[in-house]
Amino acid sequence: MEFVTLNNGVRMPVLGYGVFQIPKEECEKCVLDAIKLGYRLIDTAQSYFNEEAVGNAIKKCRVPREELFITTKVWIDNYGFEKTRVSVLDSMKKLQTDYLDLVLLHQPFSDYYGSYRALEDLYKEGKIRSIGVSNFYPDRLSDMCAFNKVIPQVNQVETNPLNQQIRAQENMKKNNVQIEAWAPFGEGRNNLFTNPVLDQIGKKYQKSVARVILKWLIQRGIVALAKSTHIERMKENLEVFDFILSREDMNKIKTLDTNSSLFFSHQDPATVDYFVELIKKRRDHIGSDYEKRASK
Ligand SMILES: NC(=O)c1ccc[n+]([C@@H]2O[C@H](COP(=O)([O-])OP(=O)(O)OC[C@H]3O[C@@H](n4cnc5c(N)ncnc54)[C@H](OP(=O)(O)O)[C@@H]3O)[C@@H](O)[C@H]2O)c1
Repeated sequence: MEFVTLNNGVRMPVLGYGVFQIPKEECEKCVLDAIKLGYRLIDTAQSYFNEEAVGNAIKKCRVPREELFITTKVWIDNYGFEKTRVSVLDSMKKLQTDYLDLVLLHQPFSDYYGSYRALEDLYKEGKIRSIGVSNFYPDRLSDMCAFNKVIPQVNQVETNPLNQQIRAQENMKKNNVQIEAWAPFGEGRNNLFTNPVLDQIGKKYQKSVARVILKWLIQRGIVALAKSTHIERMKENLEVFDFILSREDMNKIKTLDTNSSLFFSHQDPATVDYFVELIKKRRDHIGSDYEKRASK
């Protein structure tokens, strides 16, 4: 495994295993398989509802805790100073660990300033080794860097050959924030796994399209998160350290950029509406964790 060094000196693996959309019943086994294969960075979130399963895997995997790099993300409904603190301590309990390597604010909406203050406190208390944000585009990220004591260590954003985040990465570099890619494969949208340019490059190196994509990200200095529930694909995605893409091939991939999301734009007000609806639906379904706790 290769590592990047964050702006506070913490070392983070350049390639991780993401558990978005892995049902909690499957998740423990998937994470155990991933760790066995050699993944050390595991990326979950409060909103994935599988933190307990990840925690069980952390407990059972027999890899020393300090060799793992565990990330979770604070869900918008847990934003605000007090709620964020309570929710992160709760995540730590679910993840069966007494510290977290990275905690991110999942979305750039609602009271993210209050939440960030709570993360700063937990960071200063040594309960979180690094803190950051996700889906913060240049305007909001620069704002966060300018008006907080602790500069975010990481910003996790959708990054794949069709949405390359060139400008966002430049802004992160300027602010000394590490970029991390979610949906490196665009979840397979727009036939990314059979894209002719990537396929042709893959044939040249005798590597799959998935490996070419992950290598392209790592060569750009981007931490990549790959998700698969299939053990053979988990293995395939990890084997990217034995070849280097030429400058010419990196430039060919550059031509695929559409500079737009395969999912939704965080700058579009309709996306805010979408999250408001999602919060409501989840509250109706399970109730807010914080409110349940407060009413006890
Ligand atoms: N911060 C955020 O807002 C945010 C949003 C989304 C995701 N994330 C994080 O980023 C991680 C990765 O993103 P993602 O899961 O959305 O999408 P992704 O990694 O782009 O794509 C996952 C899809 O690719 C397939 N796949 C994986 N490896 C493959 C291979 N070698 N060959 C063919 N197909 C392959 C998987 O199928 P199988 O599973 O069936 O193998 C799955 O359908 C997530 O798990 C999560 O941790 C964060």
